[in-house]
Amino acid sequence: MKIFITGASGYIGGSVARRLVAAGHAVRGLTRDAAKAGGLARLGIAPVVGSLDDAPLLTAEAQAADAVINAADSDHRGAAEALIAALAGSGRALIHTSGSSIMADSAAGEASDVIYDDTVFDLPGRFTPVAEKAARVAIDRLVLDAAGRGVRASVLCNTLIYGTGLGIAAESVQVPTLAAIARRHGRPRHVGRGRNIWSNVHIDDVAALYLAALERGAGGFFFVESGEASFHDLTASLGAALGLPPPAPWPIAEAVAELGYTRALFSYGSNSRVRGRRARAELGFAPAAEPLGVWITRAYGGG
Ligand SMILES: NC(=O)c1ccc[n+]([C@@H]2O[C@H](COP(=O)([O-])OP(=O)(O)OC[C@H]3O[C@@H](n4cnc5c(N)ncnc54)[C@H](OP(=O)(O)O)[C@@H]3O)[C@@H](O)[C@H]2O)c1
Repeated sequence: MKIFITGASGYIGGSVARRLVAAGHAVRGLTRDAAKAGGLARLGIAPVVGSLDDAPLLTAEAQAADAVINAADSDHRGAAEALIAALAGSGRALIHTSGSSIMADSAAGEASDVIYDDTVFDLPGRFTPVAEKAARVAIDRLVLDAAGRGVRASVLCNTLIYGTGLGIAAESVQVPTLAAIARRHGRPRHVGRGRNIWSNVHIDDVAALYLAALERGAGGFFFVESGEASFHDLTASLGAALGLPPPAPWPIAEAVAELGYTRALFSYGSNSRVRGRRARAELGFAPAAEPLGVWITRAYGGG
């Protein structure tokens, strides 16, 4: 298949693109940075230099492809609109990347027993995002509604991703940030008591699910997860691997001062507990990579 992917130089998009190339697909990948074109080409990805703001470029690339994967920016509504319009009536696949911070609460380090599965958008009124995540949810709904416009539309809603990326960008966001905080503070920190829980998934399993959604999915909303951990347990694993003291609570005001409001509250202080039941049942998702704690010990062990 000929596939156009945005975010090809990034952590998710780069890993997915390489997996697609390995599976024999012809991949064209977007980057804004001409300096990355050679790096993409060396990975077997034909570079397309341009921006998500360039709707005519997205339209031309989407219409020349058999399928499109949007993995650059979960919050860029204009790109989603342009790709949907380009594919309308074609019956071709559009796979959009979202993130499970859309389910985040304002727990500030306390636990929650609320768990969502990937039928959550089927049931009106079952779920209301915090105000800060409403725009991202609206984009996800826009993509899902594209099914009514003749697009085989999927939203893959990723949880906390760990593992080494396969593309130009090897690092994810949350665990490397927590490791940097631990080094800066001399010990790991978790927002409040760190009882808050996030689902997580290894990047290799993420890439495998994108391939499955592309090759056999009929569309729909899918959570991408294979386990979960509290931030206390996650940071304790990091501390042990880095040879640092056990994690210490981080008052929310101090976390906000260092990370900013949105990241402190929703990326590190919230709960986001989800289950990819539909991913397993419909796409045959069978996560096989090492669990988060094992990966942290291996990746950060030795300081
Ligand atoms: N990593 C996670 O754990 C995770 C989990 C859930 C959701 N997400 C979401 O998924 C999306 C991708 O995440 P990621 O971790 O792969 O991020 P990333 O490593 O920063 O990669 C994103 C790539 O998209 C490209 N890009 C960004 N804005 C663009 C624009 N306006 N036009 C064209 N290209 C643009 C950038 O490439 P160039 O600079 O080369 O143009 C960048 O390499 C983000 O919105 C993120 O919030 C991430």
